[in-house]
Amino acid sequence: YDSKELGSVAVAQRIAQLIRKKATQEKPFVLGLATGATPLGVYAELVRLHKEEGLSFENVVTFNLDEYLPMAPADKNSYVRFMHENLFDHIDIKSENVHIPDGTIGEEEVVDFCREYEAKIASLGGLDLQILGIGRSGHIGFNEPGSGLYSLTRRVKLDAITIKDAAKDFGGVANVPHEAITMGISTILNAKRVVLMAWGESKAPIVKKAIEDEITDLIPATYLQYHSNVRFVLDNDAATELA
Ligand code: F6R
Repeated sequence: YDSKELGSVAVAQRIAQLIRKKATQEKPFVLGLATGATPLGVYAELVRLHKEEGLSFENVVTFNLDEYLPMAPADKNSYVRFMHENLFDHIDIKSENVHIPDGTIGEEEVVDFCREYEAKIASLGGLDLQILGIGRSGHIGFNEPGSGLYSLTRRVKLDAITIKDAAKDFGGVANVPHEAITMGISTILNAKRVVLMAWGESKAPIVKKAIEDEITDLIPATYLQYHSNVRFVLDNDAATELA
């Protein structure tokens, strides 16, 4: 796409089309969501489609990819807050249909929490669509280098590049949480459709690796090459290094 705005509108239109189609089948549309700068344009367009074109989210159930650990929902950097400010507070989604990993969960409950997160996704028939950004470490969700193909929702340690990239939001590297809860590679690959978006030249080197390198746990985004319905939505700058 010539701009991230055009790419974002195209992704939002596809989500809207899938939501409208599923609404006729009496089953909820199960949508996997990402945070960060990348999906902001998609969320803005979904809000516009709701307000101006009557797109309803009544029949949509969402699962966010990840949350920092520890993280209080009211914290300015929480993904709970991000999702409410940028999407949920502006659409007609039911609060019981929103799922975000719990950054307040204690040591003893985290394993059960992650297992239940997986079970909830499975009980709804799996994710109909997962949207992704990509980190400069090659992460999708917070599946950092070293993540296994069969990984599920779990507690993880963040990569040094990820912590550095988050430092501006947290007012310094020292304030960035070192851990997170993330859906796994397997959770993502089990989605029926995957859309990864990347904008800007800072993403160009990792986009090239994700698409053109051999599949390796050192670049978790390369695992997407196993998926039969994955789309990379890029602006020209993010696509500059592709062969
Ligand atoms: C966010 C997430 C991350 C981001 C990635 C890119 O929920 O899972 O993988 O998608 O770190 O972040 P931005 O979009 O801020 O460049």
